[in-house]
Amino acid sequence: MSSPKTIRWGILATGGIAQTFTKDLLCDPKTRGVDSIVHTVVAAASSSSADRAQQFLKDVGAPSDAKAYGSYQDLVNDESIDIVYVATPHSHHYQNAMLCLEAGKNVLCEKAFTVNAAQAKALIKKAKEKDLFLMEAVWTRYFPLSIYVRDLITSGRLGPVHRVTADLSMSMSPETSFPDGKHRMVNPELAGGALLDLGIYALTWCFQTLYLTQPENERRRPSVQTAMKLYPTGADEMTTMLLTFPRRKELGGDAHAVAMTAMRAAVDPDGKGTAGPAVRIQGEKGEVQVFHPIFRPTKTRLVLQDGTVEDKTWKQPGPGQGSGWKNGFQDMVNEEGEGHGMFWEADEAAMALVEGRKEGKFEGLEESLVIMEVVDEVRRQGGLRYPDKIETTDYPVDL
Ligand SMILES: NC(=O)c1ccc[n+]([C@@H]2O[C@H](COP(=O)([O-])OP(=O)(O)OC[C@H]3O[C@@H](n4cnc5c(N)ncnc54)[C@H](OP(=O)(O)O)[C@@H]3O)[C@@H](O)[C@H]2O)c1
Repeated sequence: MSSPKTIRWGILATGGIAQTFTKDLLCDPKTRGVDSIVHTVVAAASSSSADRAQQFLKDVGAPSDAKAYGSYQDLVNDESIDIVYVATPHSHHYQNAMLCLEAGKNVLCEKAFTVNAAQAKALIKKAKEKDLFLMEAVWTRYFPLSIYVRDLITSGRLGPVHRVTADLSMSMSPETSFPDGKHRMVNPELAGGALLDLGIYALTWCFQTLYLTQPENERRRPSVQTAMKLYPTGADEMTTMLLTFPRRKELGGDAHAVAMTAMRAAVDPDGKGTAGPAVRIQGEKGEVQVFHPIFRPTKTRLVLQDGTVEDKTWKQPGPGQGSGWKNGFQDMVNEEGEGHGMFWEADEAAMALVEGRKEGKFEGLEESLVIMEVVDEVRRQGGLRYPDKIETTDYPVDL
């Protein structure tokens, strides 16, 4: 057996998700049965200071020779990096991903990919021009759970799927949680609001079940009707999207989806799933349900008309109990030794580099762009507009 290929990562930004991702990245891939690649972190950059980047590298347990940079520009100039993970707020993705691409770096960019479709298109054009890998980091699509759900659809086990409902709503009071209006959830300067932060996952479930599962040459952009409620800052606090996915008659004809997100209502009020599933994928022979949280789901239920009821739990792998290792995001701390699940997308990016592919397998750039086009239309209908400096495709712009 040939030795595993090492992929050398640079981490751009040192916030919450950068920490979670990088800790997962440094988990031995063998703990999830992957032996053809290994990941290493060769550098991290913070826009605030090199000290901050140094502290980050220490906190995540990066190799001691990893470099700490005090600017993103210095990071992308580092010749030893194969791929950069962009983990800034979505308002900054366009500028930061473009910085990487211009410097000849492959990019894995956090969701939401960009603020609008024009920016997504410009990044895709640049990546093609430079023959670089570019992928939106929609980690959930690479979970074994998501693969199982899509297999249920493509194998015909559910019959033609006619309807999907997906909800990512977390009960919070924006006035209490974000009183100064500066947080990403409510701040238009950071492309804030429920839609790009949470709603993108509800859309992910609709798209990965009704779009990605169709033959590639038959996928069409869905039409959308929107109800949106704006918070006083101008960001959206509740958005409901009704989508129609065009589909050939022989495959079941048009399918409907409802994607929901809200700040003041919870899809899982008691945190135990008592209120029911957060995603329902409904076909002629039955349905598969996915339980909250749909960005990191661990539970599914298959209910078929023939009497089948199949509950499954999907724990994330990792170094295991007794390892003393823990990961999580914010106040969501996983069991000792259990990964967060962000390594699956990292493995996919690494495999793409090894194989010479330029985009992700379970969400190609064409689909990322179609989703941003739908988001543009949702925002147009809801009257959600961000400041010009973060909507622009001009580059470089100082944010
Ligand atoms: N996949 C997931 O599960 C998941 C979960 C949460 C968030 N996200 C996405 O990841 C991105 C970052 O979210 P996060 O929760 O990590 O945010 P965060 O904790 O606020 O971190 C963002 C980092 O970006 C850098 N940054 C640069 N300019 C900034 C600015 N003007 N304001 C704030 N930060 C700035 C900062 O790092 P430096 O000071 O080091 O430059 C900051 O620490 C967002 O796009 C979000 O949607 C994904």
